[in-house]
Amino acid sequence: MDVETALRKMPKAELHLHLEGAVDASTFAELAAHHGLELPPHDQVADLYSYDSLADFLVIYSLVCRSIQTEADFRRVTYECLARCADSGARYVELFLSPESHFEMGVEYPTMLAGVLTGMADAQAERSLESNLIPAINRELGPARAVEFVEMVAAHPHPQIIGVGLDFNEIGFPSADYVDAYRAAAAHGLHRTSHAGEVGPADNVRAAIDLLDCERIDHGYHVVDDPDLVASCVESQIAFTVCPTTTEYTTVWRDLSAPDHAIRQMSEAGLKLMVNSDDPAMFVSDLGNEYVRLHREMGLSLDTLAEMALNGIDAAWIDDATKTALRADWSAEIDTLLAATA
Ligand code: ADE
Ligand code: ZN
Repeated sequence: MDVETALRKMPKAELHLHLEGAVDASTFAELAAHHGLELPPHDQVADLYSYDSLADFLVIYSLVCRSIQTEADFRRVTYECLARCADSGARYVELFLSPESHFEMGVEYPTMLAGVLTGMADAQAERSLESNLIPAINRELGPARAVEFVEMVAAHPHPQIIGVGLDFNEIGFPSADYVDAYRAAAAHGLHRTSHAGEVGPADNVRAAIDLLDCERIDHGYHVVDDPDLVASCVESQIAFTVCPTTTEYTTVWRDLSAPDHAIRQMSEAGLKLMVNSDDPAMFVSDLGNEYVRLHREMGLSLDTLAEMALNGIDAAWIDDATKTALRADWSAEIDTLLAATA
C-alpha cells in the first residue's frame, strides 16, 4: 500500500472543523442562488474561495454562513461535511458551528440545531460516523455578547452539544476578555476550547489555558514565541489542534517545508499535537490531505503522524472507557496499515 493511501485510511479524530468552512464552493453558489444572495464577482465558482489573510477569509466565510438558511440547508451541509470526513478516515468528529453568522439572516438557533443534528444522525446511520457539536463564540462581537451566547447554548441542551469554542479574529479581541463567558460555560457543564495564537500572541494561548480554563487549544502556533509557556504546555500535555493548510492562508508560517514552521517547532518541542482540517472546502483540502502534507512537505515520520492520530483520542470529549477501547482498536489498525507500507 502506498503511504498516501495508508495515511488516508489511518483512523482519526477530527476536533477542529468548522461546518461552514466545509461547504464546497459549488454548494455555496447553489445555496446563494437559491436564496437570492449576491456573490462577489468571479469567473469560476472555485474563484469564490480566494483570500490571503484571516480577515479576508472571514469575509467570505460569513457570506457562506449567510447562504445556509433552512433546516434542510443545515442538514445537507452537515451530511456532506461528515461524509467527506469519513472518506478521510475520520472515526469521530467534534464540529464547530457559527450561530452568530446565521443570526444575521434571521435564522433561529433551534432551526440550525434541528438541521445539523439530523445531518449528524444521517452520517451516523449511513457512514457509521459519530459526531458532536461545539457552538462557537464569535469573539469579534465582544465579551458581553459572548456571555449571552453561552447562556443561549446552555438554554438549549442536547447530549450532542458538548462544549463551546471561541473563533474569528484575535486581533483586537484578546482571549482574556472572555473570562466571564468561559466561567459561565464551565458552570453549565460545557467543555471549553478556544482559537488562540493563530494570528494573536502567545499571551492569548496563556490566557486560554490559565484564565479561560480551556481543555485544548485550537491552532496555538504563537506559543513558540514564549519558551516558558512551551515548557509548561509540554509538562501539562494540553493538546493543540493544528491545521497545516490553514497556516498558509492565515499565519506568518506560509511554507510547510520551512525549518522554522510553527508546527515543526511545536512537534520538536514535545507539545501534544493533533491534526485537523479547520475549513477544508474553503482551503481546498481534507483531513487525509493534512496528514499527507505533514509527511511530504514537513517531513514528519509516519510514526509521528500515527502518534498525532492517537492524540486525537486523548483530546476528544468522550468518556475514559471509550478512549481506552478506541486506543486499542486504532493502535492495532495503524500498526497493520504502517506494516503494509513497508
Ligand atoms: N473561523 C473559521 N476558521 C477560522 C480560523 N482559521 N480562525 C478563526 N476563526 C475561524
Ligand atoms: Zn478554526
